[in-house]
Amino acid sequence: MIRNIHLICFRNHLNFKAELDSGLVIIAGENGAGKTNILEAISLFAPGRSFRNCKFDEIINNQEASCNGWGAHIAFQDIKFSTGYSPNSLRRIKKDGEHLKSQTDILKDIKVLWLLPQMENIFLGPASSRRKFFDRICYNLFPEHAKNIVRYEYYLKSRLKLLQNEYVGVDWIESVEENLAKFTILIQESRERTLDILKEQVKNISSKFLKPDIELINLIKPLDNEFILRSFNQFRTLDEKSGRSNFGVHKTDLSVVSRNKGQKAGLCSTGEQKALLTSFFLAQASAIKTINGMAPLMLMDEILAYFDPVKQVDVINELRNLSAQIWITTTKSKNDFFKFLDNIRCSWLDL
Ligand SMILES: Nc1ncnc2c1ncn2[C@@H]1O[C@H](COP(=O)(O)OP(=O)(O)OP(=O)(O)O)[C@@H](O)[C@H]1O
Ligand SMILES: [Mg+2]
Repeated sequence: MIRNIHLICFRNHLNFKAELDSGLVIIAGENGAGKTNILEAISLFAPGRSFRNCKFDEIINNQEASCNGWGAHIAFQDIKFSTGYSPNSLRRIKKDGEHLKSQTDILKDIKVLWLLPQMENIFLGPASSRRKFFDRICYNLFPEHAKNIVRYEYYLKSRLKLLQNEYVGVDWIESVEENLAKFTILIQESRERTLDILKEQVKNISSKFLKPDIELINLIKPLDNEFILRSFNQFRTLDEKSGRSNFGVHKTDLSVVSRNKGQKAGLCSTGEQKALLTSFFLAQASAIKTINGMAPLMLMDEILAYFDPVKQVDVINELRNLSAQIWITTTKSKNDFFKFLDNIRCSWLDL
C-alpha cells in the first residue's frame, strides 16, 4: 500500500503531502478541492497517460509561474517511486531513484485500477474505448500484453504506409505482416485468457451487484499463423484503397450483458451500468490477487455516491476482503460518511 504521497505543481496541488496508515483512504472535500487530481496522480504509477487521458502539459499547475513541470512521489510498501514531466522531456518513472527501462516495468510492482463516473460511457461509446478498457485489465494480469499492443500498432501503421507506397517491394510488406501475425496471436491469446479468468472471478462476487456476462467479439478464428498471413494478404488491396486496416485484433470488441436482466449493458440504467462496472472492478482486483499474488491499488472517484447505503457498505466490505488499498473520494463530512459504515479504520484526508 501507499504509505505517503507528495505532489508538486500537480494541477491545483502546489505542494501536497500526506501520510497513510490504512488500507482505506478517504479523500474528502468540496467540489474543486482537488480530490480527483490526487487519484489522477496515483493513476500515473501505471504505463501510459493518466486516467484523464490528457496531455502531460495540462497537468502542470497553470496558476503559479514557477511551476515548469510536475512531480508525483509515493512510498509504496518500502519502495520509493516517482514520476514527473517537464516540457520537452519524456514522462519517466523512477524506482528508488533509478529510471525504469520501460514504463510497463512498473506493472511488476504496482497495479492500479480505477473506477470513475465517466466510465459508464464505455458501454455506449466506440469499440476502441471498450477495447482499451479490456486491454488495461489484460496487461495488469499479463504485463507483456502492453508491449505487444504497442508493437502491433507500430507494425499496423508501417504496413499501411508501405501499401500506399508504390515503390515498396512485396517482401518488405510480407516481413511486416509476419511480425503482425506474431503479435496478433500473442494479443488475442492473452485477451482470451483474461476473459476466462474474469468469467471465473465474476462467479465469486458475492455482493448484490449486477453480474456481467462478458464475451469478446470479432475475434480472429482460427488463430493460426497461416490463416492470419493469408488474411492480411487478401486485405491488401482494400486496405490500400480505404487507407485503413480492415483485418486484425484491433477490430475486437467487448460485449457486456447484465446477467440478472438479460439486457445489454448499453441499455441498462445509469445506476445499473455503474453496478456492472463495479462488478468488473471487483472481478479484476480478485483476478490480480489470485494470478499475481498482489493486492492492487484501487481508485474510486465519486462512485459510492451512486449507490444506496446498503450497496455502499456491500462494496466497501467486498473491497476490504481483497486487502487492497482503496482510495475513495467524497464530498460528505466524516459524520455523514460513517453513518452506515460503522466507523471502520481509515486514513481520512480533508482537503
Ligand atoms: N493544470 C491545472 N492547474 C491548476 N489547477 C488546475 C489544473 N487542472 C485542473 N485544475 C483545477 O483543480 C481543481 C480541482 O479539480 P478536481 O477535479 O480534483 O476537483 P474535485 O475535488 O475532484 O471536485 P469534484 O467534487 O467537483 O469532483 C479544479 O478547480 C480545477 O480547475
Ligand atoms: Mg472529482
